[in-house]
Amino acid sequence: MNITVIGAGYVGLVTAISLAETKNNVTCIDIDMNKIEALQQGRTPIYEVGLEKLLKKNLKEGRITFKNTIELGVNDAEIIYLAVGTPQSEDGSANMNYMYEAVDIVAKSILKDTIFVVKSTVPIGENSKLEIRANALSPYQVTVVSNPEFLREGTAIQDVFNGERIILGANNKEALDKLVKVNEKFETPIVKTTLESAEMIKYASNAFLAMKISYINEIANLSEMVGANISEVSLGMGLDKRIGHRFLQAGVGYGGSCFPKDTHALLNISEKAGYDFRLIKEVIHVNRMQRERIIIKLLKYLPSLVGKKIAVLGVTFKPDTDDIRDAPSLDIIGALEGLGAEIAVYDPIFSKKMGHIPNIASMFNNVTEYTSINDALLGADAALVITDWEEIKNIQPNQFLEKMLTPIIIDGRQCYNAQEMDANGIIFDAVGLGGVTIKDDNKVKVLS
Ligand code: UDX
Ligand code: UDX
Repeated sequence: MNITVIGAGYVGLVTAISLAETKNNVTCIDIDMNKIEALQQGRTPIYEVGLEKLLKKNLKEGRITFKNTIELGVNDAEIIYLAVGTPQSEDGSANMNYMYEAVDIVAKSILKDTIFVVKSTVPIGENSKLEIRANALSPYQVTVVSNPEFLREGTAIQDVFNGERIILGANNKEALDKLVKVNEKFETPIVKTTLESAEMIKYASNAFLAMKISYINEIANLSEMVGANISEVSLGMGLDKRIGHRFLQAGVGYGGSCFPKDTHALLNISEKAGYDFRLIKEVIHVNRMQRERIIIKLLKYLPSLVGKKIAVLGVTFKPDTDDIRDAPSLDIIGALEGLGAEIAVYDPIFSKKMGHIPNIASMFNNVTEYTSINDALLGADAALVITDWEEIKNIQPNQFLEKMLTPIIIDGRQCYNAQEMDANGIIFDAVGLGGVTIKDDNKVKVLS
């Protein structure tokens, strides 16, 4: 099938390459010329495990090409995927401008009846409007299919080829059947539904996962006060299959380009519909507070941060990604700077030669980036653990003791064992650290 994908971001690029991998002829278009040039040379502008290898393979097999203008890339397409950004607007709603712009150009450029597949997360009801908008601009029949993405950054390729479900929403049976044919190759259960239900599945799923995280974070905060230990509480809860272990890890809260945007968008959709979605308001509030709690913990040990060197370990919103969009680290670094600290940031992404290297120092006044943990720790008065990269989880107590001026560690991602830290004389605090951790041999071994 001849397929065009508009948008070569985290979602569009993974979509384009996985469609090429399943033997379609794919043209991928983006307005960002730098991205297109890198992709044409076989380099991925984002850090996504396994993506570059698949890109090179499909470039070599001539199944994917990259272009910079929509007009040049839609002529022979039977299906056109739209994966342009729908970022959060000031009022919390999804900014649809990029999507409108792209749909308008595509609608005016097509030369036959075409299916528009919307990958981007759009507010409930928007896909129907996009279909009306496109048909008003084109002499051909445009049918919209909603195919929301459920990719987690860092495991996107794995999620495409080992997904748990593919959602296809449309108000047209033929279009749905055609998209089923395209998606059958992913050997993943397909749910066919209406446009509105597909849009709701996306928002409801992300908001539920965000709620699960805010829930366990509240349990963690209470655990600190009543002497419970959140890592053991999560373990005990997660063994119940109805609860499950995943997305039950307490910490500094969720970040990224999806949960924050989609929870705000769902709240905005509710307000516009006249429904008071109280639960989501609290999910958002708890998540914002979780970032502040790390600073409050630090101030317990260092009442004044003026002139103090604070190491921030981890900047990306989660491990194995280069994405810093709405990462907890950004609010935490901003608060540290406001309290007069000098901040040393370390993140493995600073030294990887993949994807887009975030330039944190340029976003603040008192931040220095380090490509080595030891240099970031050297002379530090305290260290905050904000992203649970493997390299950060593997830091040994003696590194903290040897490098830091005072070994004060605030663990925001349950990376370290409290007992081991205490035994080494490290001043240690962590999210959800209430009671004494039971020795490993007492713990139930969670079957994988
Ligand atoms: C995007 C949406 O932001 C998100 O709501 C949805 O869930 C999935 O698609 P993502 O791929 O992470 O998420 O966005 P981003 O990485 O910003 O990629 C968007 C791409 O579209 C960028 O490369 C941008 O250059 C491109 N774009 C944007 C166009 O090609 N044309 C436009 O008019 C606007
Ligand atoms: C998420 C959804 O998982 C995915 O289905 C959707 O398509 C896009 O949004 P992503 O944002 O890439 O994916 O990352 P995810 O792994 O979901 O983590 C999101 C945030 O939650 C990260 O900041 C992570 O640190 C945090 N998180 C995750 C927790 O704090 N605790 C957890 O147990 C899991």
